[in-house]
Amino acid sequence: MNNSLKHQNLLKKQLLQFPEPDIDAQQNSQALVALICDEIEREGGKIPFECFMALSLTAPGLGYYSAGNQKIGVHGDFVTAPEISPLFSRCIASQCQQVLSQLDQAGEAANILEFGAGTGTMAAEILLELERLQCLPHCYYILEVSADLQQRQRETIRRSAPHLEAAVIWLKTLPQQDFRGIVLANEVLDALPVHRFYKTAKSVGEYYVAWNGQQFVWELGEICSDSLANVIDRLEKDLPDNYQSEVNLAANAWVASLADFLQQGIALIIDYGFPQREYYHVQRSQGTLMCHYRHRAHDDPFVYPGLQDITAHVDFTAVAEAAANAGLDVAGYNTQGFFLLANGLEKFVGVADISDPEYLKTIQQIKTLTMPHEMGELFKVMALSKNYDCSLQGFQFQDLRAKL
Ligand SMILES: C[S@@+](CC[C@H](N)C(=O)[O-])C[C@H]1O[C@@H](n2cnc3c(N)ncnc32)[C@H](O)[C@@H]1O
Repeated sequence: MNNSLKHQNLLKKQLLQFPEPDIDAQQNSQALVALICDEIEREGGKIPFECFMALSLTAPGLGYYSAGNQKIGVHGDFVTAPEISPLFSRCIASQCQQVLSQLDQAGEAANILEFGAGTGTMAAEILLELERLQCLPHCYYILEVSADLQQRQRETIRRSAPHLEAAVIWLKTLPQQDFRGIVLANEVLDALPVHRFYKTAKSVGEYYVAWNGQQFVWELGEICSDSLANVIDRLEKDLPDNYQSEVNLAANAWVASLADFLQQGIALIIDYGFPQREYYHVQRSQGTLMCHYRHRAHDDPFVYPGLQDITAHVDFTAVAEAAANAGLDVAGYNTQGFFLLANGLEKFVGVADISDPEYLKTIQQIKTLTMPHEMGELFKVMALSKNYDCSLQGFQFQDLRAKL
């Protein structure tokens, strides 16, 4: 690496105050860089950003989610709602209870399938709450791409709900057809790899990643597939010049696969994002790509490959369109704040001594989950359904489907 580049990198890391990874983590990152460079060479000098993001996150043994780094929690890179407060999972359980009891009346066993279950905290809390409500699912399936997280999920469930461990089954692939019940995906779609496109006065194209001998660099190129070109053609007409953003084709494919195996029931997708009009707002001219490294959020996906999370917000209109194309109904769309309140959030708190530190802690957690300037408005809940047409209680106070 030449001195000027070294200096720039150092400056960038100092400005963002990235803590230095330990030696093992640095070696892991270097091995991933070598793997991505091989891929770039094989592809003739550059790969779509989507491919870079997929390798960075899930390359076997080396990607952010495939390797053994801490990831989620205070000692990791970011915190998710189930880690903030068990009340989040209890509200999800309350929504599950409504659906499970209605499906049970039809007489066949209903299940829950959670995608990307992180540390397993939400799974354990949901099972405990459903046990309390006497409404346990037949099985609680987890589909997790990360072997390391799968191990943590087992430990969490063994520690928090050992008597319910037998109900949890880890799947290696999507279920075969005929799944009845509830599919849960909290902060999973934002982790799927996205394509990055740009529009200037002269052209519309896609961002690629190349290697200049010292580091990864951006390259502009033609849009890599017809399916992506079709989406971008539709979007770019309303966009100003000097604009860049993302398209998540993997989320569409995820929704299509959901429609294949879900025979009856609902899917709850919880994530940060917007309807399309807001997502591709003229003022959001740099897109929504975001990286998380030890609780520092920034926008450079080339920092410490494999050691930081890379995400993009979810375009919920695109998810709704993919659902309609696949034969699913959009059964509700709401902000996280209103969804949790409609599922009895305040009932879980009850009456307490307001000088009790535990009570104050709980109130602070509720604020984080529901206040508009925290997670309450940016995070949305979308319900997709198939062969299930009851009104879902989580959307009784507010349903924003008309905004999609
Ligand atoms: C941001 S974490 C959220 C974890 C958990 N749901 C929570 O709320 O704490 C993303 C989860 O999605 C999983 N994941 C990442 N990439 C994925 C992919 N391409 N397909 C399926 N799951 C993926 C990760 O292993 C991880 O469990």
